[in-house]
Amino acid sequence: AGGGEPLMKPGFSWDGFFGRYDQAELKRGFEVFNQVCSNCHGLRLVAYRNLSAVGLTADQIKDVAAAREVADAPNDEGIVSMRAGRASDKYINPFPNDKAAAAANGGALPPDLSLMAKARVGGPNYIYSLMLGFKEEAPHGVVIPEGKYYNTYFPGNAIGMPPQLMEDLITYSDGTKASPEQLARDVTAFLNWAAEPELNERKSMGLKVMIFLAVFTALLYALKRQIWKNLH
Ligand code: HEM
Repeated sequence: AGGGEPLMKPGFSWDGFFGRYDQAELKRGFEVFNQVCSNCHGLRLVAYRNLSAVGLTADQIKDVAAAREVADAPNDEGIVSMRAGRASDKYINPFPNDKAAAAANGGALPPDLSLMAKARVGGPNYIYSLMLGFKEEAPHGVVIPEGKYYNTYFPGNAIGMPPQLMEDLITYSDGTKASPEQLARDVTAFLNWAAEPELNERKSMGLKVMIFLAVFTALLYALKRQIWKNLH
């Protein structure tokens, strides 16, 4: 079987030298992740408090964290009990372990999405394409096993994840219309941020370095002309 259909390249806000994350887009992407993807996928490298970068207030962060329970450190008697999540916790996995996660998904393990935007060829273009790449009917002659779904962009085409994005899947807090393309674009932005949260700072620093070098070059050139001016 194929997969490997050329990926869609929608173009992202953070592309290019001047591209930066758009906070409204990241916040919408978080809403998609939190309400939909996080029912199956972990995000173990992101702590709840990091969500301030996507525009959540401290209270919102507390609420998001407290919506899940996590095993607390053992008490003096060595007994482990559950407690509500805190802002300082890493995103709490929806399943207690990989075995439970795979069992709940017909044997396919939903991978942690923290680094997914870096892990696959095509990066964010792959995530965007994959989310929009489900087809109800496999092409003639292609057999999709029970419990798998046909996806144009998944290697081998038979993916264990059901199609996720449909019209008005969630209600965005900023009122944006939740079309499948919008949902895919926003959640891709969020997952790219999760994998590379320091992109904005990195690019701003790059720009400052270029400006510094331009000024420094001009100064050196002026100095050189000053030093050699009597040798005309
Ligand atoms: C795999 C994204 C929601 C179950 C994946 C992969 C990505 C992804 C990028 C990796 C594909 C690969 O390995 O190349 C998302 C996003 C979601 C979402 C962005 C939300 C919009 C869900 C939900 C479920 C789920 C709600 C469970 C009902 C799975 C499973 C796999 C998977 C089981 C492994 C598939 C396989 O290896 O065959 N998902 N997912 N996903 N996802 Fe999701």
